Amino acid sequence: STKYRAFAPVRLTDRTWPDAVITKPPVWCSVDLRDGNQALIEPMDIDRKVQMFEQLVKIGFKEIEVGFPSASQVEFDFMRKLIEENRIPDDVTVQVLTQAREHLIRRTFEALQGVPRAIVHLYNATAPVMRRVVLNMSEDEIVELAATNAQMFRDIAAQNPGTKWTFQYSPEMYSDTELEFSKRVIDAVTDVWQPTPENKCIINLPTTVEHSTPNIFADMVEWTHRNIKRRDSVVISVHPHNDRGTGTAAAELSLMAGADRLEGCLFGNGERTGNLDVVNVALNMYIQGVNPGLDFSNIDEIRATVEHCNQLPVHPRHPYVGDLVYTSFSGSHQDAIKKAFAAHKDGDIWDMPYLPIDPKDLGRSYEAVIRVNSQSGKGGIAYLLESEYGLQLPRRLQIEFSQVVQREMDASGKELSAAALWELFQREYGVHT
Ligand code: KIV
Ligand code: ZN
Repeated sequence: STKYRAFAPVRLTDRTWPDAVITKPPVWCSVDLRDGNQALIEPMDIDRKVQMFEQLVKIGFKEIEVGFPSASQVEFDFMRKLIEENRIPDDVTVQVLTQAREHLIRRTFEALQGVPRAIVHLYNATAPVMRRVVLNMSEDEIVELAATNAQMFRDIAAQNPGTKWTFQYSPEMYSDTELEFSKRVIDAVTDVWQPTPENKCIINLPTTVEHSTPNIFADMVEWTHRNIKRRDSVVISVHPHNDRGTGTAAAELSLMAGADRLEGCLFGNGERTGNLDVVNVALNMYIQGVNPGLDFSNIDEIRATVEHCNQLPVHPRHPYVGDLVYTSFSGSHQDAIKKAFAAHKDGDIWDMPYLPIDPKDLGRSYEAVIRVNSQSGKGGIAYLLESEYGLQLPRRLQIEFSQVVQREMDASGKELSAAALWELFQREYGVHT
């Protein structure tokens, strides 16, 4: 149930191999309230956490990592609030993270008492640098750590049969871990959990720090997808970060390589350069004709909530949402857009030069698309006067008036709004209304 209208699949399938396109959306999991939150200068208080949670639900996330309850009292209290105030919709599953340490696991399950459904997410580092330098543990000890704590999950969950439990495991720094070794750890965990096709567990593969090109990560995901035990009982999730600026590409290639699920944050908040930007991936899918199952039809409202909760601005050129992304400054772009708008009818495939998506689909407008500054030509000026004031300028007058506009802008160095253009036109030609 989304407001998005389906676009006819755009061109890609004709041009490339059919298996090199994404044909269905993944299971989305928002980690805004956990990974995103832990990277904020000032982590969210409970009120902001509630606002973010409600926004995520409204967008349509069905899996939401709401926090790390053993990490602080606010995190614990927020989990309790969601449960005690019945704030979790029936079709949403909350997820919480814990390190592989007994007292933290016990505290995590304590925070979850009485929850109808939950994903409990266990992690420990597996990469050589962590084993050698930070943890001082052998490979066998890491496998043992993961398996023992996985068993603790099973034991505690068995004492709380009123909840529908799903278990998730992340080999932290998976992308820097030897593939054979990460398989060994993952298999050890699923040996304990014994998932079935009816009751799957989630194996989440993070690029905790993104070091390599996205095709390398996708090849790793594909290898894991083909080689782990019990593949039919496991949901393969990926959790890209964006250190190289290629988190989106890593996510998209991973989906083509066999991943079922994506974890990320709205507009790419998260540790360092951020987590995967889920809005970016979802809307990339949308413009390829795949309904992402997330509703961004009021993207400015979403952005306002996220900026308020994170206390961080979204860049004006951020894909799909930035203030400037539906604005055309160059005259030739403006002219092409004007012609394509004139030819476009509601319901047509979006076939528009220089605008990858219909801004209306995100609650943005074309009114703002054409602005006039020193880079623009007569086409943009004529378009604004016609669309805003119904004034159709004959071609010769367009040329003449554009010179007037150019002089005005050269003098002021500023761009002109439609209202300023109209005022200038009235002044120049002695029009009185
Ligand atoms: O980036 C990461 O490795 C994580 C894990 C805890 C999943 O956030
Ligand atoms: Zn992360």
